[in-house]
Amino acid sequence: MDHYFCIIGKEYRVMLNEKTAKLLNTQINKELYSAYLYLHFANYYVEQGLNGFANWYQVQAQEERDHALLMVQYLQNNDAKVTFEAVAQPDAVLKENMDPLKAGLAHEQYVTSLIHTIYEAAYAAKDFRTMQFLDWFVKEQGEEEKNATDLIKKMELFGNDEKGLYLLDQELAARVYAAPSLTL
Ligand code: FEO
Repeated sequence: MDHYFCIIGKEYRVMLNEKTAKLLNTQINKELYSAYLYLHFANYYVEQGLNGFANWYQVQAQEERDHALLMVQYLQNNDAKVTFEAVAQPDAVLKENMDPLKAGLAHEQYVTSLIHTIYEAAYAAKDFRTMQFLDWFVKEQGEEEKNATDLIKKMELFGNDEKGLYLLDQELAARVYAAPSLTL
């Protein structure tokens, strides 16, 4: 039981580093905001009649909720307190079909920077357990940025043509939700 230690005959779990636990708690709110933002994008596309794009972002919102719940579970598994704060109103202004895609990439790049900041704090504190937990998120952010970039490229190639846009919408309609590969 290398993650336990004894004090006066009692077993206590080794607490997570306080700073990394706090950053993770804040990140829960950021992940829930991400879900909210992507539902905002989905709403925009529903209004445009692009239900495939809407589906893609609805699935993305489910993934973001999963990210938040994984962090909740990780903190609770380690006896750290979870505190929820208000989720902000999505602030992206959407006027054209490309706008959510570009806002999505910028948002994922921002989230990557947040995950890296938590990783840096865990590294500095020798919080190896949190580093190992965050490894999955570091990889996930690489995938999310690639997905967002690919969408922009496809939109640039096909989005200005009505038939191309229709086919792209059909393609995005096929995305289905899959539970995260990370289990705790
Ligand atoms: Fe949970 Fe898209 O980052």
